[in-house]
Amino acid sequence: MGSDSNSWQGTLCIEVSPVPNTIIIFGASGDLAQRKLIPALFNLSRRNLFHDRSRIIGCSRSQMDDDSFRDVQGKALKERFPSCEAGEIDAFLAKIFYIAGGYDSHETYRGIHRKLQELEYQQDPVPNRTFYLATPAALYPIIVPMLAEFQLTAENYEGIPWRHVVLEKPFGHDLDSAEKLDRLLHESLQERQIYRIDHYLGKETVQNILMLRFANIIFEPVWNSHYIDNVQITVAESIGVEHRAGYYEKAGLLRDMFQNHMLEMLALTAMEMPASFDADAIRDEKLKLIKSIRPFPIKELDKYIMRAQYASGNGMPGYREEEGVSKDSTTETFVAAKFLIDNWRWRGVPFYLRSGKRLPKKVSEIAITFKRVPHSIFSELRPEDLSADMLVLNVQPEEGMALSIQAKQPGPKLCMGRLSLDFKYAEVFGGDIPDAYERLLLDCMLGDQTLFIRSDVIAASWRLFTPVLEAWSKFDGNNLNCPCHLRHYPAGSWGPEDADQLLCGCTSCWRDL
Ligand code: BG6
Repeated sequence: MGSDSNSWQGTLCIEVSPVPNTIIIFGASGDLAQRKLIPALFNLSRRNLFHDRSRIIGCSRSQMDDDSFRDVQGKALKERFPSCEAGEIDAFLAKIFYIAGGYDSHETYRGIHRKLQELEYQQDPVPNRTFYLATPAALYPIIVPMLAEFQLTAENYEGIPWRHVVLEKPFGHDLDSAEKLDRLLHESLQERQIYRIDHYLGKETVQNILMLRFANIIFEPVWNSHYIDNVQITVAESIGVEHRAGYYEKAGLLRDMFQNHMLEMLALTAMEMPASFDADAIRDEKLKLIKSIRPFPIKELDKYIMRAQYASGNGMPGYREEEGVSKDSTTETFVAAKFLIDNWRWRGVPFYLRSGKRLPKKVSEIAITFKRVPHSIFSELRPEDLSADMLVLNVQPEEGMALSIQAKQPGPKLCMGRLSLDFKYAEVFGGDIPDAYERLLLDCMLGDQTLFIRSDVIAASWRLFTPVLEAWSKFDGNNLNCPCHLRHYPAGSWGPEDADQLLCGCTSCWRDL
């Protein structure tokens, strides 16, 4: 199908505008605020999805005042939105304020309190508040209790106006620490106030998984072990560890990508139909699915999950040569794993997941390979000669989806081949796909937790991966005789060759991307 035949007829659009609210960003001088949060709020404001009376307060340790903070953000916005009129950016900047201060200093919170009183004075209705913690997670146990001590997150008994707290991952580094963090959060906040971000859930293509599965009749009947052979989820990145060695050395890829983004995509692909499109109904189903994943057998870990680290290659340095990385680091930058789900729908269907840094290109996708036809009526063509149908959901960078099926080549001969029905978001909707943070910030301002992770889902995810992390840390990753040792792959390659071992006995191998 060419692009011309991809037509769109919007039939149902539900867009709700948020009420006034004040967004307080901790870590405001950092990268996330400048690259993602402020641009996302600006774009929401351009789309009339940021209430005219809403305001932003940036807070961080860097010594700046309102004007210098606005200068920095203004410059970044002008670079990011070159065609935007200066007046439009200036009008938005006028809604931004800044408070410098240490996160453990009472004076900082007094300053925020004063500013909020000033901004919210005589407003009707009283604005809601969103506290966005764009700081290292180690600061959550300092900031959240301080917010509570100064009554900044206190809601009245009806929860109006509300106070939401948005947290970036990591939510702990294993099950124990995640549960400890959770207890601390719940000392001053209700679960309905906590918005744990997984920015993959804000990606249009990831959100579309549920529409595709549950707003169409044709997929669900074949979405099971009778018709699906295997599912592969890939998140490949060409970048290395960049300037994040401090964080990455402690995290590693399993914590950084699998415990959150990868598992969320797996859950959306495999979960049962929720009773409604409601935050808790969806998260209940995700939880059920994650709990049905078979624990990795620790004694045979290598058959199910493997770790690797990039070495130098294709003119790029190895991980251990990156600044801030230990020379004998065993931190993994690549993981490939086979997941089995013990329920009726998926019995026997392997879900292969891989993610790595310094792979040849940036690409994320979910590929569903169907079973071959059981019998071929086309003489001379055996069922195994007919390639399996495949549905690929392209998460990024070329957002879209493609369904490959068998079709006849025109002409007198019986020639069959694979035909791809291809849909690309950019061709149908233009290139302007909203950034994930736009959607997530909007939902937070609307009080919709559907795309945010609930505490029990996080715990279930850690319950799955903590034994693997413990086993990995017990064995010397550098000792090749040890089970589950760390493999190496040249930077710019598709990971260690051994990753194919995981697919032994399967009818397909890792997709060639
Ligand atoms: C982040 C990880 O959560 O996701 C990064 O911490 C990773 O290591 C990033 O690079 C990938 O996100 P995206 O949206 O660029 O695929």
